[in-house]
Amino acid sequence: MPGIAFSQKQPPQLGKASIKNVIAAMSLDEKVNFVKGIGMKVSEGANGPVAGSINGKVMGAAGSTEAIPRLGIPAVIVADGPAGLRIEPVKYGNDSTLIYPTAFPCGTAFASTWNTDLVDKAGRAMGQEVLEFGVDVILAPGANIQRNPLCGRNFEYYSEDPVVSGLIAAAFINGIQSNQVGTSIKHFAVNNQETNRNAIDAIVSQRALREIYLKGFEIAIKKSNPWTVMSSYNKLNGIYTSENFDLLSTVLKKEWNYNGLVMTDWYAGKNYPGQLKAGNDLLMPGRANEPTKIKEAIDSGSFSQEDLDKNIERILNLIVKTPAFSNYKYSNHPDLPANSKVSRSLASEGMILLKNNNHSLPFQTKKITLLGNASYDTILGGTGSGEVNTTQKVNFYEGLKKAGYQMDEQLSSSYIAFINREKAARPKRLSILEAIKPVEEMYVENKQLQNLANNSDVALITIGRSAGEGSDRSIETDYLISENEISLIRNTSEIFHKNGKKVVVALNIDALVDVVKWRDLVDGILITWLPGQQAGDALADIISGKISPSGKLTQTMPLAYGDVPSADSFPGIPEERPKETYYNEGIYVGYRYYNTFNKPVAYEFGYGLSYTTFKIQKPTISSKNFSKELRISTTIKNTGITSGKEVIQLYVSAPEKAMDKPESELKGFAKTQLLKAGASEKIDFMLNASDLASFDTERSAWVVEPGTYTIKIGNSSKNIQQTVSFIVNQDILVEKVNNILAPQKALVELKK
Ligand code: GLC
Repeated sequence: MPGIAFSQKQPPQLGKASIKNVIAAMSLDEKVNFVKGIGMKVSEGANGPVAGSINGKVMGAAGSTEAIPRLGIPAVIVADGPAGLRIEPVKYGNDSTLIYPTAFPCGTAFASTWNTDLVDKAGRAMGQEVLEFGVDVILAPGANIQRNPLCGRNFEYYSEDPVVSGLIAAAFINGIQSNQVGTSIKHFAVNNQETNRNAIDAIVSQRALREIYLKGFEIAIKKSNPWTVMSSYNKLNGIYTSENFDLLSTVLKKEWNYNGLVMTDWYAGKNYPGQLKAGNDLLMPGRANEPTKIKEAIDSGSFSQEDLDKNIERILNLIVKTPAFSNYKYSNHPDLPANSKVSRSLASEGMILLKNNNHSLPFQTKKITLLGNASYDTILGGTGSGEVNTTQKVNFYEGLKKAGYQMDEQLSSSYIAFINREKAARPKRLSILEAIKPVEEMYVENKQLQNLANNSDVALITIGRSAGEGSDRSIETDYLISENEISLIRNTSEIFHKNGKKVVVALNIDALVDVVKWRDLVDGILITWLPGQQAGDALADIISGKISPSGKLTQTMPLAYGDVPSADSFPGIPEERPKETYYNEGIYVGYRYYNTFNKPVAYEFGYGLSYTTFKIQKPTISSKNFSKELRISTTIKNTGITSGKEVIQLYVSAPEKAMDKPESELKGFAKTQLLKAGASEKIDFMLNASDLASFDTERSAWVVEPGTYTIKIGNSSKNIQQTVSFIVNQDILVEKVNNILAPQKALVELKK
């Protein structure tokens, strides 16, 4: 009788056996290693530490989970960021050229389109690159509220308003995940500054937390179900968010019914078992000492294997969805030409026309004078993990040239030589966390300006600003325009105006800058934001009139930085090394503050000009008495002479009973299709009780108070064209939630 063959029973395989059986087959060692990433290794040739090539896959990715081959568990790869996939370039086939993923515009440009269809489309394009470059989850979108203009990562974020932030994030996530790859909405939560980001304690009231800082995440998560959520570095009311059970388990997983995975930000927090217990399922990028700490906690009884298994279950539920699990044969060859077109259309649609006196734009001439360093060294994106490497760069000068504009070549060469010289003199950039500050503005002699004015019909000056992860912006060098820049604007305006010629300024900026000191000197102002790789083409599309600008501000531009409601409390105390930052403006962030306290602003939330004009007709409302939901319908007409798109914004002013309320709050918006002159489009809005509810701290509940509500419809938060009212006859308790996450320190909040 031949020897009895041992039946080497294969252990349960992920995807074949139940997840519970797979977990049961894991040793404790495997478990404590599985809840952390593989760490970060410097890969050859990369610009700084990256996760490196994971078994030959994806150089430059930000991280990977651990594989357990004997159980059929592959490694899952994650990479940044909100403006496109940040990885090292790859070779396609035997072609020796290196190809990079598409560098899309920054997050704020996405939001400034107010076009959820276009954002979804751009998400689809970006997600296709995630899939085809072998990545499973892209660490985006960044959805933190732009609480203060000085935050270094505002460019990655969307708005001062949670409805804009939530709906744009949802569209982005749905677009990306339509490729069957994952996203990671971040940084959850209240990560509104970079100063001391790993330890700063954000002291926030429960109402401001729920209505402003969590609401955008809540909208996005409920409308798009991101595969993962990334918790943030900071503390919230005394507890690290990554160790905060009330935030990650009670609110996110129980109240919001989120069934995806939560990962830490990179090297966040200190108490690893505490993070896992709080509901932070995956510790990224992974540290060597984490398994030991977790085992110690299990041995001491402060952390149970049952809880550990819950983390593992969520990781496995993610893995079975990934391309890695289905062993997808990625091509390293996504449709980059098509995606660069999407990037270009998003960049132009995110541009905001702030001023256009006497139709300075679109240019009626091809003979222009192009001034400003950033015209030639255009800032395509911000720095840090939100950076995107690319070689496909079209700066403003190149784009305008391609579009047939004639510019003084001697001036262009002097700018390019100046910028190259200045940059060559700088020390080598050692890390992506090093912000790249633009070089000092080149001086142009008045004599030369006079010559330029004689030989061109209009001047276009670009002012550039960049910022990035790891540090906040400064008032002096980032927010304010420098003396050199102002004198360039002033001298150019004086000379060109004397010659009967106009001057337009393009703001190639990461976040808000002061405009008040110089806007009266010029005829036109266009915000381009950080427009991604097709920057110059997108600018030319607007400048030439091929596309009518339709972007709108998603953050208020104040008359002065000191008017910002968080100006005094940002970035926290003590001043030399902030440890705590008090959100004492409460719910009065952005337009909620300026409109409620009648503070004049430079340009309001929701503002942006077009080359045409629109009229919003009187709306109809499905009922004058609210019960479950209301339908508000209106028609918008292009009353101008050229095609364009408009953003209709619906605000609600609510009655105040037990709670003070902002003057009005955005409850919905819609962007029209491209309307030809004279064309109209019908727009419907639906409002339900949760749209109308305010957070009543006393009752720990979302409540619609009784009284008369006024709907305000317009194309900015202040340019209201139509109003209609309705009544809520009785107090509606929409949702009872847990009384948690209260500030542990005295917080004196702004009240009406
Ligand atoms: C960074 C960022 C986060 C990024 C992660 C991976 O520190 O805070 O946004 O996704 O680490 O690079």
